[in-house]
Amino acid sequence: MIQFSKITLDNFLQDYWQKKPLLLKNALPNFQTPISPEELAGLSLEEEVESRLIIQKSATDYSLKTGPFSEEIFESLPKKNWTLLIQGLDRLMPEVTDLLKEFSFIPSWRVDDIMVSYATQGGNVGPHFDHYDVFLLQAQGKRNWQLTSQNCDMSNYIQGVDLRLMQTFNVEDDYVCETGDILYLPPKWGHHGISLSDDCMTFSIGYRSYQGLELWDSFGDYLAENESFKDLYLDPNWQDCQSGEISDPAWQQAKKLLKSVLEKDEFIKPWFGKFATQLDKNANDLLPEPLAKDEKIYIDELIQIALNSEGIIRDEVCRFAYTETTDKILLYINGQIMNTFSAEEAFIKLLCNQRVIDIKNLTEILKTSKNHALFEALCNQQVIIFI
Ligand code: SIN
Ligand code: CO
Repeated sequence: MIQFSKITLDNFLQDYWQKKPLLLKNALPNFQTPISPEELAGLSLEEEVESRLIIQKSATDYSLKTGPFSEEIFESLPKKNWTLLIQGLDRLMPEVTDLLKEFSFIPSWRVDDIMVSYATQGGNVGPHFDHYDVFLLQAQGKRNWQLTSQNCDMSNYIQGVDLRLMQTFNVEDDYVCETGDILYLPPKWGHHGISLSDDCMTFSIGYRSYQGLELWDSFGDYLAENESFKDLYLDPNWQDCQSGEISDPAWQQAKKLLKSVLEKDEFIKPWFGKFATQLDKNANDLLPEPLAKDEKIYIDELIQIALNSEGIIRDEVCRFAYTETTDKILLYINGQIMNTFSAEEAFIKLLCNQRVIDIKNLTEILKTSKNHALFEALCNQQVIIFI
């Protein structure tokens, strides 16, 4: 886990998470970047990788190019003041996915992705704010971060620029981040990070943010898919009503009906499990293909393979989570409720709580025949892989 040194984890969760920024000097001592700038540039040439190049030409003149790029573009870049950004590196490189275990104090299903930037001296993406929580890990080189809590609203943007640049930016904090330092930022906190070296790499561990509207929409879809909630609207007492008026008691009856569905945990819980583990479009495109019927591997063979392996690892694109009630545990994978075939709770929890199950734990799990059907299904869907 990352080191908080001056404060405790409890302090962080209570006083900082989603409330105020925190600079953690040397949060990951001796950190070494798992990816080089050259490898990052290589990835930006690939079709399925989301990449951007931002070049600052003058104070408010930034050019934004979106990938995939050609090799030639890197030869034509100026010496300074540019940044290459690659989105979703946690889905592309297991060494980067591994980093997430340092942040396991926040549930894994809250993570959106890890974006990695490489910048030459002066490189920056302009002063802006985001709508999500982020840990900015300095992976190598140095970056100056300026922060502000003021004017973080949609009207404070320079018009007619490709990037969202804050017009007014009153610096409140000014830090220099070096290798292994982490700056935590809550949503809607203005930040401006300028590279102080030619080898600056920053990893943004970004979290999901949900708007109420999205939740409402998605819950409606869930009810429709499951053909649930067919309770009828009930009229109020129509005494003294006017023919054309929708009276207060009339719309209040509609509100009462809508509220009643929100009280039904048996709907809300599985819906939220599906919602929170949903993949975004880019991740969906990278999902592993389930094995075809004629390629299916059966449990006896899988146990043999398992016992000769070092354990299993979840595919890096996949999102796993569970919910519990007194008599039932539900497993969610990639926005779907997965049949658990009555597997043991301990197996389901282990699968969701850690990305890797080592051979010692796997051997224990496979000793119980109750776990076999789920294990077989997960292997054949290729959402878990032998290591
Ligand atoms: C960067 O890495 O240059 C930008 C990260 C951010 O502002 O969120
Ligand atoms: Co940002």
